[in-house]
Amino acid sequence: MTPVTEADALDGVRDALGLLKDREQVAARLLDASAKHSFDPDEELDWDAPFEEGKWFWPPELVSLYGTPMWQRMSQEQRILLSRHEAAALASLGIWFEIILMQLLVRHIYDKAATSAHVRYALTEIEDECRHSKMFARLISRGDTPYYPVSRLHHNLGRLFKTISTTPGSFTATLLGEEVLDWMQRLTFPDERVQPLIRGVTRIHVVEESRHVRYAREELRRQMVTAPRWSQEFTRVSSGEFARVFSLAFINPDVYANVGLDRGEALAQVRASAHRREIMQTGAKRLTDFLDDIGVLRGAGRRLWRASGLLA
Ligand SMILES: [Fe+2]
Ligand SMILES: [Fe+2]
Repeated sequence: MTPVTEADALDGVRDALGLLKDREQVAARLLDASAKHSFDPDEELDWDAPFEEGKWFWPPELVSLYGTPMWQRMSQEQRILLSRHEAAALASLGIWFEIILMQLLVRHIYDKAATSAHVRYALTEIEDECRHSKMFARLISRGDTPYYPVSRLHHNLGRLFKTISTTPGSFTATLLGEEVLDWMQRLTFPDERVQPLIRGVTRIHVVEESRHVRYAREELRRQMVTAPRWSQEFTRVSSGEFARVFSLAFINPDVYANVGLDRGEALAQVRASAHRREIMQTGAKRLTDFLDDIGVLRGAGRRLWRASGLLA
């Protein structure tokens, strides 16, 4: 073991103080941005406007079966109906993530002073997520689509995770939940082929989520420097496991049966689709580049990420 000199110890204290100052500055800027750009979806969006004939509920290229032999055989109406159900499945997945995230944030701030900007921002983010989950629920009902919960197993894995996860593990999972969906939503809100209500929902979500991504990234970057070595290693392996669960839970296979398709055949075609693999990897690329940069994608963790299909 290397001996710790007084100078080393002082350096350590200076680094820790620097990180805390940085944390407060980031949070103060995010609080400012939240005060300027926050939306009440109930007021902001026209929930009563009828859906427009022939418009998509999700950009076709982002629908799971796009480009497969099954897709070629489907009528345009059936494709649009599938996009409607997949939008509901993604909104349901979003609610699941956000409810997990709210609990993680509450646990993250439990031991910290509520007067700090870092804690006040976490509380602001919880407010955002409350509005988002209600917005997604309203969208599912408005679309006359079912709520699509994740499987029992994933539901219970989520219960365990949100109860026991470490701080860096929590922020890695947060980013996984936020960044891939965010990438898709950034393609959705400007797309004129898509229903105006879906465009409005995704626009609000993109604006507010960019702050969440910033908060989680900055905290995770600090954590990968300051957390104990076992915790950093645990983050690498557990994030690979989330990536695996995430890619499986991404689309609920009940959507296929609900639009009159064979569930098993549809799933097999999605798994074999090179287009789909590329979409998921491109959607995760900004995140995987970042995780690679801060040292999360190493060793066994990296192999799990590859196996999940999200990392090329
Ligand atoms: Fe959200
Ligand atoms: Fe978020």
